Amino acid sequence: MRVMKIAIAGFGGVGRATARLLLSRRERYRRLYRRDVRLVAVCGSRSGLFDANGLEADRLDVLEAGLTGPDFVAATGAEVLIEAGPSDFRTGGPGLAYIRSALSGGQDAIVISKGALVHSGAELRQLAKRSNALLKISGAAAAALPTIDLLDHSLLGSTVIGVEGILNATTNYLLDAMTSRGIGFEGALREAQAAGFAEADPRNDTEGWDTAAKLLILANFGLGLELAMEDLTVTGIQSVTHREIEAWRADGLVPKLVGSLLYANGGVRADVGIRAYPLADPFAHVSGKTKAIRITTDAMGETVAMSHGTEPLATAAAALKDLEHILKARSAEGPPREA
Ligand code: HSE
Repeated sequence: MRVMKIAIAGFGGVGRATARLLLSRRERYRRLYRRDVRLVAVCGSRSGLFDANGLEADRLDVLEAGLTGPDFVAATGAEVLIEAGPSDFRTGGPGLAYIRSALSGGQDAIVISKGALVHSGAELRQLAKRSNALLKISGAAAAALPTIDLLDHSLLGSTVIGVEGILNATTNYLLDAMTSRGIGFEGALREAQAAGFAEADPRNDTEGWDTAAKLLILANFGLGLELAMEDLTVTGIQSVTHREIEAWRADGLVPKLVGSLLYANGGVRADVGIRAYPLADPFAHVSGKTKAIRITTDAMGETVAMSHGTEPLATAAAALKDLEHILKARSAEGPPREA
């Protein structure tokens, strides 16, 4: 049976969950795609592991110092890189060098962190095209919520008129707590931090940047646009007052932080901000850490998807959905690529 070697760069909660889920699905990959999928390398910022025969789950807890970096991954002979490092859209983050190196060398890449895709998306798409590598990004585009796949598969052929998304779980949780339980922004935030899902520095979420990053990735990778962060108008939820919440409630409206794209007058407008929805709208019922997307097309009308996955498993599963797309595509190609 043909072997497919995988490397994971970025070995925090999501990277580890992806490794374990991948190893638990090896029999599935054998059965469905006739591939012996081996996790040959993992690495964090300072350490890693390598075994050409494949790492097993019981070996993933203790990493060896020095086994890290794009050159380390390149030397492992992996055909697919899964990048799960910390996200930084202002610099591209540590993932950028790994993804560049993988795509330049013809490796397929599954990207989970958003930073590199926002910072250098056009370059990475070019690199992939040039080397005939696949670049898959479900994990970065709202993960378990189907976004790119809706555009690439379910709505294929229809023309997109607009996209609206509740793309950030933390802000949706905070707004929901403020609206349905009447607690203030600071109190809701402390609750989310105590529960372990809001970051210690939560501004990336609360000021709308995480939503903006996902919207931009969706626009550029899913809709062929070429937006930069500066093209988006971004407003967060940090300044919402109790008075505003009460006013929405009195009008029978539910506020949500939404990223939206609207095609109009030959152009596209992209923004992130609060929109208040009447109860008849499905978005009014997207509660807690649930995410949702509504895509409006000319021929298929409105399509709405919602997703409430438990993290980090849900993001790991989104990345491995991408792996199955790669397995399918590479199986359909017939003869193996040269290693
Ligand atoms: N902090 C993000 C959220 C998860 O709350 O949705 C990473 O994108």
